[in-house]
Amino acid sequence: MSVKKYIQDNQEKFLNELLDLLRIPSVSADPKFKDDVFAAAEFVRESLEKAGADQVELCQTAGYPIVYGEKIVDPSLPTVLVYGHYDVQPADPYELWDSPPFEPVIKTTPRHPEGAIFARGSADDKGQFYMHVKAFEAMMANEDLPCNIKFMIEGEEEVGSEHLDIFVKENKEKLKADVVLVSDTHMISLEDPSVTVGLRGLSYMQVEVTGPNRDLHSGTYGGAVANPINILCKMIASLQDENNHITIPGFYDKVEEYSAEYRKALNDAPFDLEAYKKELDINDVHGEAGYSTIERVGIRPTLDVNGIWGGYTGEGAKTVLPSKAYAKISMRLVPNQDHKEISKLFEAHFNSIAPASVKVKVTPHHGGQAAVVSTDTPGYRAADLAIQEAFGKKAIPTREGGSIPICSLFQQELGLDPILLGFGLDTDALHSPNEHYGVKNYYMGIETIALFFKYFKEQANK
Ligand code: BES
Ligand code: MN
Ligand code: MN
Repeated sequence: MSVKKYIQDNQEKFLNELLDLLRIPSVSADPKFKDDVFAAAEFVRESLEKAGADQVELCQTAGYPIVYGEKIVDPSLPTVLVYGHYDVQPADPYELWDSPPFEPVIKTTPRHPEGAIFARGSADDKGQFYMHVKAFEAMMANEDLPCNIKFMIEGEEEVGSEHLDIFVKENKEKLKADVVLVSDTHMISLEDPSVTVGLRGLSYMQVEVTGPNRDLHSGTYGGAVANPINILCKMIASLQDENNHITIPGFYDKVEEYSAEYRKALNDAPFDLEAYKKELDINDVHGEAGYSTIERVGIRPTLDVNGIWGGYTGEGAKTVLPSKAYAKISMRLVPNQDHKEISKLFEAHFNSIAPASVKVKVTPHHGGQAAVVSTDTPGYRAADLAIQEAFGKKAIPTREGGSIPICSLFQQELGLDPILLGFGLDTDALHSPNEHYGVKNYYMGIETIALFFKYFKEQANK
């Protein structure tokens, strides 16, 4: 029996197992779900064991455990380290889901005419890392595992992978491999398969603006005392100029400008601006002057307010001049921009633009570096060949706007370029209500991953 046939014969089983995993609400951000996050780790441990992995263990950290497992077929063969995460984003706001986020259902969509699994974590990242477990199972069942394999599936990716850093630094020998393989990104479509070769970095700040020492009557004091919400809005608005260029001094100092040739290649990737606008129900796109949508997301940094609050937001009207205002602000960064340095630049600038009438406090949250991946490696070539065999087309290299901070950690600490072989679509609603993952994407992914192992063995030994 071939690996491909095993995958086809076991489609229903593979799907049902994933649905069971999706029923566990492993939200890492919310302590309320602590037991469920541990339960998901246990599920992963068991599924690796059943698939035939050795040395399977939950590696404890100060936070959620990292699930490790391996199969060393022959030490002289190349080794693939698979990374993924079993934690998910909070499902809030629940009322915007068409079906409960942890009760997966399969429905068709225009982009998934063959059905998609609707559940939190279906695309990010349970449905994607689980493809690796199933590809591994298929290769093991056929006694046809062409490379050694190591799994490292963590439970804190959505909250900044805080404890992974130490784990990787302390376990370099255990994690020694020839390539890191990650499925936690998008492809353009099943018709235009792509491999991600760049991710943005992230700097995430919280700001607090304080005016008077208590909430005031907005008639008695309004117009005479600074309203921290008014001030915060002005300060935020000033962070971008009329070209949507960020005004923080030094922000662009290390941003790489690309050649016309490179930019043309990026823009040659299939992209339908009209469909993009239609899907989001917007009349126009928005962004830095002089760059296309693909470039704005792929190679340019940006700044966004993720949340802003303060004052009275309940029913009816309350005439109040609030004492405090808050915002959460993220900056997506590009290679060479150091997230810690950018956080410092932000803090200094934000303090400097505050008028004397208010006090400002800036607190940095988690962050991470951007990553670019070479297309001239055995790993990339293996991914391209696997895609060619599974999809009948060459892979298009793309640069994505999201962040997976541990990718630069792998580059630095293990000297390995991660291969970002993702099978989600950008419309799969990651982090949003009604997140979903195509059933066909799931099966195609399992098949392509198995082919990756076949081709990586050839490419790595060249
Ligand atoms: N899988 C995503 C990252 C991603 C999504 C990359 C889509 C490319 C395309 C990952 O789980 C994620 O959400 N990362 C966070 C950063 C993290 C530090 C919380 C992000 O990008 O916001
Ligand atoms: Mn993810
Ligand atoms: Mn995510």
